[in-house]
Amino acid sequence: MSEAKDASPWVPGSRELGDLESAAQECRGCELWQPATQVVFSSGERSARVVLVGEQPGDQEDRSGEPFVGPAGRVLDEALAEAGIDRGAAYLTNAVKHFRHEQRGKRRIHAKPELRHLAACRPWLDAELEAVEPRVVVALGATAARAVLDRPVKIGEVRGRVLEEPARPVVVTTHPSAVLRLRGRGGYDEAFGGLVADLRLATPYA
Ligand code: URA
Ligand code: SF4
Repeated sequence: MSEAKDASPWVPGSRELGDLESAAQECRGCELWQPATQVVFSSGERSARVVLVGEQPGDQEDRSGEPFVGPAGRVLDEALAEAGIDRGAAYLTNAVKHFRHEQRGKRRIHAKPELRHLAACRPWLDAELEAVEPRVVVALGATAARAVLDRPVKIGEVRGRVLEEPARPVVVTTHPSAVLRLRGRGGYDEAFGGLVADLRLATPYA
């Protein structure tokens, strides 16, 4: 079989989240499925009003199959709580559904997905947004923003306000991993506060 150009051959016609998630287990839309443990699809219900989009699953997400359960997820949980958004009422997903990494001995080091991976995985995000029809989408970090907006943006230039996109309002903020990297160094409180402030822009829609 020749290589698929993206995930679309695996995306079913159904917009039930359960159907999407089970179909995604079989996805071979790019090569990232191969070294990963499993697909990490999403968490949350179709009734969610807020969709949060991350970059890709990390090591712990790859092992558990659930998004945002590792250290970055804990930062996100704290920030959501401060912003008054109930994590359980939000839909959490990623721009890329398999963990891209490099093996270094026993460790698996995060490797940023490339544009072609974002493009390959995009049909899943489109199907999820069609299923959930949220009132607002929050893109966590530049990679997620690129996937959601379909154009490159600099976080510093687009954060701090609601972007009135044709489909629905979008809020772009920093990725919780970027906040986490500052922990124990200067700048953590400010970066965390910035994340919370951006999330608060989405709170009225939640
Ligand atoms: N980082 C992400 O972008 N997504 C996850 O699910 C976990 C960490
Ligand atoms: Fe399919 Fe996305 Fe996984 Fe690539 S990363 S195999 S497109 S689910």
